[in-house]
Amino acid sequence: MASSEPGQRELEALLQETRRFPPDPTFARTANARDPAIYEWARRDPEGYWAEQARRLAWFRPFEQVLRWEEPHAQWFLGGQLNAAYNCVDRHAEGERRNKAAIIWEGEPGDQRILTYGQLQREVARCANGLKRLGVRAGDRVTIYMGMIPQLPIAMLACARIGAVHSVVFGGFSAEALRDRINDARSEVVLTADGGWRRGSVVPLKAQVDLALEGAPSVKHVVVVRRVGEAAGARFSPGRDRDWEEWLAAESAVCDPEPMDSEAPLFILYTSGTTGKPKGIVHSTGGYLTGVETTCRLVFDLKERDVYWCAADIGWVTGHSYVVYGPLANGATVVMYEGAPDFPDRGRNWQIIERYGVNIFYTAPTAIRAHMRWGPEWPARYDLSSLRLLGSVGEPINPEAWMWYWEHIGGKRTPIVDTWWQTETGAIMIAPLPGLTETKPGSATRPLPGIEAEVVDQQGRPVPPGAGGFLVLTRPWPSMLRTIWGDDRRYRETYWSRFPGRYFTGDGARRDEDGYFWLLGRVDDVINVSGHRIGTMEVESALVDHPAVAEAAVIGRHDDLKGQAIAAFVTLKEGVAVEDGLKEALRRHVAGKIGAIARPDDVFFAAELPKTRSGKIMRRLLRDIAEGRALGDTTTLADPAVVEALKAQYQEEA
Ligand code: WT7
Repeated sequence: MASSEPGQRELEALLQETRRFPPDPTFARTANARDPAIYEWARRDPEGYWAEQARRLAWFRPFEQVLRWEEPHAQWFLGGQLNAAYNCVDRHAEGERRNKAAIIWEGEPGDQRILTYGQLQREVARCANGLKRLGVRAGDRVTIYMGMIPQLPIAMLACARIGAVHSVVFGGFSAEALRDRINDARSEVVLTADGGWRRGSVVPLKAQVDLALEGAPSVKHVVVVRRVGEAAGARFSPGRDRDWEEWLAAESAVCDPEPMDSEAPLFILYTSGTTGKPKGIVHSTGGYLTGVETTCRLVFDLKERDVYWCAADIGWVTGHSYVVYGPLANGATVVMYEGAPDFPDRGRNWQIIERYGVNIFYTAPTAIRAHMRWGPEWPARYDLSSLRLLGSVGEPINPEAWMWYWEHIGGKRTPIVDTWWQTETGAIMIAPLPGLTETKPGSATRPLPGIEAEVVDQQGRPVPPGAGGFLVLTRPWPSMLRTIWGDDRRYRETYWSRFPGRYFTGDGARRDEDGYFWLLGRVDDVINVSGHRIGTMEVESALVDHPAVAEAAVIGRHDDLKGQAIAAFVTLKEGVAVEDGLKEALRRHVAGKIGAIARPDDVFFAAELPKTRSGKIMRRLLRDIAEGRALGDTTTLADPAVVEALKAQYQEEA
């Protein structure tokens, strides 16, 4: 692996980590996973293990074959038919959980809405009927662009109910990013809101949709939730746009769920890869639902009376799997929050936990580090004694943040589950089972039952304990992506060509003497900023789209808060002067093209970029410069003087 791999620096320290947290005996006694034989069972008979998990779902028609593996395509639970919305809503609403809270929604300004399973069933059915009336049929794609409001999961489940494939686009993405995703999916319907609330201001959504639709000819209908009202300044285009409430006013609250084949696509979710074009990750119905139902039950130890809160936005996979499908498939009570953790003050998360008696809380290391900075006095003001389990996801959690989380949020009582997975894996892959696994701060511990992982070298050979390498998954699993929407070739090439027969994750990892995995960050051209994936190529294309820019190279450099920050090295076109404000203009340009999450933290003007003799930019050396390290191997450079000059200049300016 490249010596400049992010995380490498802390690696030696990580592997020295000696703190151990064995499962608490009281917790272990009642844990959903309390028999250690589960690992052995799944290892010996993975298909039997997964079949038994899948049978916890309600099937309209039972499956006949567990797995068909025609590398690199897996099909799970063949012959089976089910409906995801039926599993997440109706089977609870029609049973004991009819009056149980399914979603406890907290709006940023403090408004609340609680939906019982019975109410959720009616709302989902009405929305499903509305979609049918717009002409949406099974297999059609529906794009959803909303903030964290109840209509978002309602819309997703309504699609699932009629077999339509939803494509949720995170509300922070720009009009242009939204347009690309609508066009790639060829959606005819877009469901959105006038705007959303964020730190007291209005985030316009409908206005972005209007811009996006200037170049998205497939769209015939737009439905708009009035979340904000006047302040959003949303305009309606007659014939195309309609108001959500008016749309559904006359719809019946009864709609039969469509029986779907296990392999029918449930949704597409776009994520960044190593090229400029985002990948539409396709997830199936039966396998995906089995993966998220199982992991929620075993990793989060979800119980009937739990109040569960995953703080992720539904626009990312974490929200799909662990705000919507996983917990609802378990019949849980889910907290959903619209706003920011520091508005109106830095105690907002802890206030919500106290108010609703949250038992299980799941967030990202970057959020934990922000709370660390704000100080333990904020959580100390609230009663957090309801918490019994904490989770972490999105990036490696540094042991310091792990310990802070454990002490100041968990009160030194609760287990922490560090969960490694990806948009592509659909569900958690590497994580402790809280009643069984001893944890080590900073390690996601071991693959879950039914999952097999390895760390391999460039040639694909397993590396010895302690050595670094590439993380691969060596068996198909039910919730794995089925393909990349419209580009099966890219699916094969990205995940299955580097190490034939094994799924390439794009992550570096080490495994210690106990077989524990320590994740080291991406080894490809993907940056992880605050747990969000950003492709360096996407940012580079946005930069070169600016009239002043000739060339751009973008890298992720270490950042104490965000995990990684975006650093852009830019050469300007002939005759362009470096003016005040140009850096800011470039940053704004990128935010406008992709979304605020992709805004570069540093923009650095270079006379030339370091390239190999064949003209390839050596980003590895740029990372060395940005992280203040000695330069790695420069022998393949066309002109080693370029990088030396750049380094000197960077040190002077930074
Ligand atoms: C990438 C996937 C899966 C939910 C959110 C991100 C990194 C994720 C961990 C973890 C170390 C992690 C990896 C992975 N990652 N969780 N617990 N420890 N790294 O989903 O946007 O698809 O990103 O996030 O680098 O490849 P995503």
